[in-house]
Parts: sequence; structure tokens; C-alpha cells
Amino acid sequence: MEDSSIKIFIDEKTLQAKVKELGGLITKDYQGRTPVLVAVLKGSFIFVADICRHIKVPVVFDFMAVSSYGSAMVSSGIVRITKDLDTNIEGRDVIIIEDIIDSGRTLNYLIKNLEARNPKSVEICALLDKEVPRKTINNVKYKGFEIPNKYVIGYGLDVAEKYRNLPYIGLIEEE
Ligand code: IMP
Ligand code: MG
Repeated sequence: MEDSSIKIFIDEKTLQAKVKELGGLITKDYQGRTPVLVAVLKGSFIFVADICRHIKVPVVFDFMAVSSYGSAMVSSGIVRITKDLDTNIEGRDVIIIEDIIDSGRTLNYLIKNLEARNPKSVEICALLDKEVPRKTINNVKYKGFEIPNKYVIGYGLDVAEKYRNLPYIGLIEEE
């Protein structure tokens, strides 16, 4: 995927080291438990695939798809569930696996939605957290990188469904 307008922002090695570190923290915290990893599609599919292999306790996978962006690079502000969980999470330890927090609307909505199902616990694992003016998301327990308020792509993240397969986090250079 040669695209001269893309600049590497977080390279593959740095990314993988952080993913491993986060997996290690989860392993330590969830000894004796079997958390449900709830990955938020589509953006988190690569992150969850990588981090789960560093989590050395049994896990159960489930997926939720929410849509808030359409194909534009600006949030529409509307969160909609397009695919719900298959698992009953009542009484379970849930870890939401999210690619990136921007306005925080998606996560705030998800936390409320999942907590209404009476899980034992809900924690958040987010790879990227954008420095944008907003209320902080109530304790993101596992956080990868804080990044400036720029649109990033790769490692699951897209622009209009493109670039998700880049092994690094990239920036699209302004013309
Ligand atoms: P929020 O609801 O504004 O926090 O948006 C979160 C969702 O928007 C993320 O889960 C991503 O799917 C998408 N998103 C936010 N920022 C970016 C970005 O810089 N690149 C790609 N997708 C993004
Ligand atoms: Mg997402």
C-alpha cells in the first residue's frame, strides 16, 4: 500500500510493545476470572486480535458494532447499535476493547448500554485517546497512547473503509 500522503505516526514496533504491555496488565488484574472482551467493530478488530494473544487468562469474545461516523471524518454525534452482543453479560466481567476515543460519545453510550445489563464489572481498554476538549471518560483503565487531535488511520482505523490493514498508525498529510 504505497501512498505517499501517509506519514507513520506510531510505528509497528512501538504499537506492538504497547499492546503487549496492556495485555500483561489485563492478565495480572483478571487472575482467576474469565472476562468477556467486547470489541467495538469495525475499528477494534485488529487491536483485539493482537491484545488477546497477550492475555494469559481465559477470555470470551463478543462483538458490538456501533456507527457514529458514517463515512465522514467528523462525528455525526449519533450512536447507533448495528450489531448487538450474542453473549448474556449479566454477572460477567466485561472489558470493552476500543480502538480510539474521540468525542467520547461512543464509549459513554456503550458503558451505559452495557451497565444496564447488570455485568459484574465493566472496564475500558482503549488503544488511542485523542486530546480533544471534552469531559474525560470515566477512568479508562487500560490506555495505549494519548495522541493529538488529528485524524489517524491504520491498525483497524479507516477513512471510508480504507487503510484498516496498515500495520502502523498513520496520519494523512494535508495537501
Ligand atoms: P467518538 O464517539 O467521537 O469517541 O468516536 C469514536 C469512534 O470514531 C472510534 O471508535 C472510531 O471508530 C472513530 N474515530 C474517531 N477518531 C478517529 C480517527 O482519527 N480515525 C479513524 N476513526 C476515528
Ligand atoms: Mg471504534
